[in-house]
Amino acid sequence: MAYSQQTAPFDYVIFGGTGDLTMRKLLPALYNQLRIGHVPEDARIIGTARSELSCDEYRERAREALEHFLPPAHKDAALIERFLKKVHYITLDGTKSDHNWDDLHALLEQSPADRIRVFYFSTAPQLFEAISENLHRFSFITPQSRVVLEKPIGTDSASARAINEGVSRFFKEEQIFRIDHYLGKETVQDIIALRFANPVFNAVWSAEHIQSIQITAAETVGVEGRAAYYDTSGALRDMIQNHLLQVLSLCAMEAPADLGADSVRDAKVKVLKALRPIPADKVAQETLRAQYVAGEMAGSKVPGYLEELGTESATETYAVMRAYVDTPRWKDVPFYIRTAKRSHKKVSEVVVTFKKTASSLFGKDGEHNRLVIRLQPDEGFGLALNIKNPSAADFSLQHGAMDGRFAPADGSLIPDSYERLMLDAVRGYPALFIRRDEVEAAWAWVEPTLQTWAANKVPMTHYPAGSYGPEEARKFIASTGDAWHEDMGA
Ligand code: BG6
Repeated sequence: MAYSQQTAPFDYVIFGGTGDLTMRKLLPALYNQLRIGHVPEDARIIGTARSELSCDEYRERAREALEHFLPPAHKDAALIERFLKKVHYITLDGTKSDHNWDDLHALLEQSPADRIRVFYFSTAPQLFEAISENLHRFSFITPQSRVVLEKPIGTDSASARAINEGVSRFFKEEQIFRIDHYLGKETVQDIIALRFANPVFNAVWSAEHIQSIQITAAETVGVEGRAAYYDTSGALRDMIQNHLLQVLSLCAMEAPADLGADSVRDAKVKVLKALRPIPADKVAQETLRAQYVAGEMAGSKVPGYLEELGTESATETYAVMRAYVDTPRWKDVPFYIRTAKRSHKKVSEVVVTFKKTASSLFGKDGEHNRLVIRLQPDEGFGLALNIKNPSAADFSLQHGAMDGRFAPADGSLIPDSYERLMLDAVRGYPALFIRRDEVEAAWAWVEPTLQTWAANKVPMTHYPAGSYGPEEARKFIASTGDAWHEDMGA
């Protein structure tokens, strides 16, 4: 399918329209796509939620959200007004069949019958099936309709399967767009470009040359206002099962036949299915979990997770897993997957450590070559090389660095991941969404760890807020001969 940035006219119906994600990400994303000309003038955005609000009150909330969350360079008062005219609101409990469906019907009927409709479920996943059923009952699902499912898709394999089954009773798989916003990040897509468009990496991308790959997503924020959700989830479900396993799949996949949606997703799912299982009796050795305790960040004291929560909890805010991809390409190469809340700094990155080349030429081996793909912030990549020490008379080596940036050539900001994804759902372009088999394979791999942790068979470790993580994490990675990026020196 030819990819066109401009979209056909659409009606975007958001369930969970008053929620944090809608205000923080979804509305600003649509605004920005309007700003750069990808949203047609007669497109409409229809927020729905249970709150009794008038359309004007909803527009007011939307306006405040845009004022708050748009980057200053993108704020334009006249454009905000133009955008808000496209925004509508309907008080609706999507799970109840005897609710305000007539109003939604009346609004959607104003558009031509073949208008693209996107139903975005930004609600708890337990509601997805009931909302789908009502959309079906009242004949809202047309051939041009699609549904976007926000994460998390379940809390384990069984609930993920139930959600997928539930939604697929009413929508065909090609109409279902499961969001993983990491795939919408331009820099995550850069993993494909760096690997397959550059022989300098492609030729050495295997166990023969690579010692290990570490994938980190660390955040300085704690659980903010989301403790009720987060405490039932934890770092493994919140970040590893989805975002970080997607990044791992892109790093480890074989070259897809083409960049079509199914070729790429076939290649990724093969990786997920090739992950070496971590049975219950190996979980203590191959994983690590931790909670932050009180600490200091940017000179201010911050409370620990349990203090914020106000109750006891065995939910982890930090997690590490050591993964092996059992394919010939990755024979015994460890992939370290790590995520943290209240970390020393915000950083999402992939660090590829190459094996040292034994050489008698220089008296001693050089250092590891290292490729760091900076997903965010400071989007770009660094390559550490060995060069000759220019002030030494002999041929001793020193570290030399190359640095590249992913910034757009025209100086504009890197688009937020939701911008691309929300409009790709309109376009019906599924390449950057997760297929059902991927979600289920990812849950299958993490499940024994979740169960073993839930049974308290692996000790909870602790780290002060504002640190890089628990001390135990150093021993963990050292046990397979590696070190964390922040401990590597150069
Ligand atoms: C979300 C998680 O999926 O990703 C959040 O639920 C997390 O807990 C967020 O903060 C991180 O996204 P990003 O794009 O800031 O790395």
